[in-house]
Order: sequence, then C-alpha cells, then structure tokens
Amino acid sequence: AVERTLSIIKPDAVAKNVIGEIYSRFETSGLKVIAARMLHLSQAEAEGFYAVHRSRPFFSDLVKFMISGPVMVQVLEGEDAIRKNRDLMGATDPKKAEKGTIRADFADSIDANAVHGSDAPETAAVEIAYYFPALNIYSR
Ligand code: CMP
Repeated sequence: AVERTLSIIKPDAVAKNVIGEIYSRFETSGLKVIAARMLHLSQAEAEGFYAVHRSRPFFSDLVKFMISGPVMVQVLEGEDAIRKNRDLMGATDPKKAEKGTIRADFADSIDANAVHGSDAPETAAVEIAYYFPALNIYSR
C-alpha cells in the first residue's frame, strides 16, 4: 500500500553535508519527499518527539545529540514507504548496519546514527503530525 513515513536527517549527517546524497537514495528507491523543514530543535521539542524513550538510559544523550545542530525533517511517500525507508537506513547501530545502507555509509555511533525513520503506520501518523500541519503536505 502507499504509505507515508517521517524521516529525520540528524545533526551529524547535516554537518557532513550529505542531505542531497540521502535525498537521492530516497528518490532512487521510489520514495517521494512530499513535505520538508529544516529546523534546530529545542530541548522541549526533542524530548516531546522522543517521549516514548523517556525512561530509557540513553534518553538524555539522545536529546542532547538531537539539539546539537540543525536537522532536516521530511515526509516520504510511496509504496511500502515505512519498510522501504528502514531498509535504506539499515540497523540502528551502524556497526550492525548492512553494507550500502545510509547508516553504514554515514553514521558514526548508535547516537550519531545519521537518520531516523518511523517504525510502524501508527508511529508514522503521530510523528508526521508532530512536525507537519496537514496543510503543508503536497503529495502530487
Ligand atoms: P532513532 O531511530 O532516532 O530512535 C531513537 C534513537 O535512540 C535511535 O535512533 C538511536 O540513535 C538512539 N539510541 C541510543 N542508544 C540506543 C539503544 N540502545 N537502542 C535504541 N536506540 C538507541
């Protein structure tokens, strides 16, 4: 089915100047960028976005990293977009990410891991709504 998923290019990958390279991978695999914003998250915004991880031991490092520089946030649309984006990203820990994936090629650590992608339709809907009012979505 045609799905939408939320993607974030994290501060490490923005600093490495690979936004375009990552967008090319989305486009080559048939995913379309239908909304995008570059922003420097506040602590409250990062904490709110990652609220499901609030009680995990890595939460404060994750938030600190996500506010360390600007991020590029986009909605990707396409057939099977959630799984397709996760296949492109590779495993959360770049040491375990398959060769040729975004994380294998650009990530340095499990925190500085280049990209985020929604993991299921329910989380995609919540994450898209967090950053994009419906009026800013352009799907054709
Ligand atoms: P992301 O997909 O953005 O979702 C939560 C982030 O927490 C994850 O990518 C990692 O960058 C970070 N993180 C740090 N340590 C862990 C861990 N042990 N398990 C999962 N995520 C972690």
